[in-house]
Amino acid sequence: MNTSQTTVGLLGCGNVGAGVARMLIEDRDFINQKLGWPLSLAKIAVRDASSRRPWTPPRELLTTDPYEIVGNPDIEVVAELMGGIEPARTLVMKAIASGQHVVTANKALLALHGREIFEAAAAHKVEVMFEAAVAGGIPIIRTLKEGLSANRIHYFFGILNGTTNYILSRMTREGLDFATALAAAQKAGYAEADPTFDVEGFDAAHKLIILTALAYGVLPSLDDIHVEGISRLTPEDFHFARELGFVIKLLAMSSRDQEGRLEVRLHPAMLPQDSLLAGIGGAMNAVHISGHAVGDILLNGPGAGMMPTASSVLADMVELARAARANCSARVPALGWCRLSDERPKPMSEVSTAYYLRFTVLDRPGVLARIAGIFAEKGISIAQVIQKSAAPGEEAVPLVMLTHTAAERDMNAALKEADDLDSVIESTMLIRVEERCAARGAA
Ligand code: HSE
Repeated sequence: MNTSQTTVGLLGCGNVGAGVARMLIEDRDFINQKLGWPLSLAKIAVRDASSRRPWTPPRELLTTDPYEIVGNPDIEVVAELMGGIEPARTLVMKAIASGQHVVTANKALLALHGREIFEAAAAHKVEVMFEAAVAGGIPIIRTLKEGLSANRIHYFFGILNGTTNYILSRMTREGLDFATALAAAQKAGYAEADPTFDVEGFDAAHKLIILTALAYGVLPSLDDIHVEGISRLTPEDFHFARELGFVIKLLAMSSRDQEGRLEVRLHPAMLPQDSLLAGIGGAMNAVHISGHAVGDILLNGPGAGMMPTASSVLADMVELARAARANCSARVPALGWCRLSDERPKPMSEVSTAYYLRFTVLDRPGVLARIAGIFAEKGISIAQVIQKSAAPGEEAVPLVMLTHTAAERDMNAALKEADDLDSVIESTMLIRVEERCAARGAA
């Protein structure tokens, strides 16, 4: 170990990598003042040294060989900022095996291969830190891992994807349809050319897996989580949500039910308009956490972007530099728990929530009664019904119902029967309602 400085190498120099390189160079004196010694950027591995970058690092730092960083005994901290599974996974595992500490912003890598990576890090007595992997610039990892470590977490609800939050905000505010709001998100630079990963919920699901591990000591597999995106939502649903006093958000949720069973799910949800998360607009992220001792807290901020994400990467580097100097690896276990449990979240069919349902029905006598009859048979209680008159010349009308809490299994069975009725002419829209998000602590 070089005692006059801590040396770092970056794998990747896209948006996040360029932000980190910029901070390491431009904020060198400030970091030195905070840390007591310099964080020195030794090398940056890139695929193509001549590519244009959001910030241009000194040419002499660039290399196209990642093994000038990984396994290099002169580099103590490797920051993996390339994304994707391979070659990131191989490089991270080799860095760990070489005794290098790792910082990563790669949520997919940790969500899908976290166990093997954290086990290898513990075996080699190095640290893997990942503040930037969830919610960009918001220090949610440290909050769950350390700030709230004495709390049993009742639940957390997160808005963990900025692209979808931007799309939903535009649909809420301006009544846009999904395709138009998505095009606006692409134009604003939020959504990728292929937006599937964001809009179908996988990006947020990876982040949900990581937060669940920190909150509950359970690293669920993606297959054990219900994941549903936002692409099927329509302007009509936003219209009815407003009328019913709700906003629609893509919500990542983990909680323990009354029997103590873990629920982990990611889907669009209707939240009361006065809930802590309802006002989080644009591309912002937020997490509402409820702990047995602390009560309810809200963290809110930029969930992506070059400098907010670099802010989190630098925080990890500073912490790693201190840990390495103090020779106290694993001061806090990577996920904040000494042992992870093998518990699996309960199946979605056993989850109970309230529901918003929008049927598209023929405007004829007896249709409402028949649908209500099916729900009564399944023991599902209806809380509210809205039926508008058909527009002139139209036979189909929306029929909107809010239910009281019901089991997902019963709801699926009821909807299947209702959708088979001749008078129900489109498959019914279902959006779960999350009343637990209601504002807390107001006087
Ligand atoms: N694409 C993500 C978002 C940021 O829109 O929030 C990276 O996870």
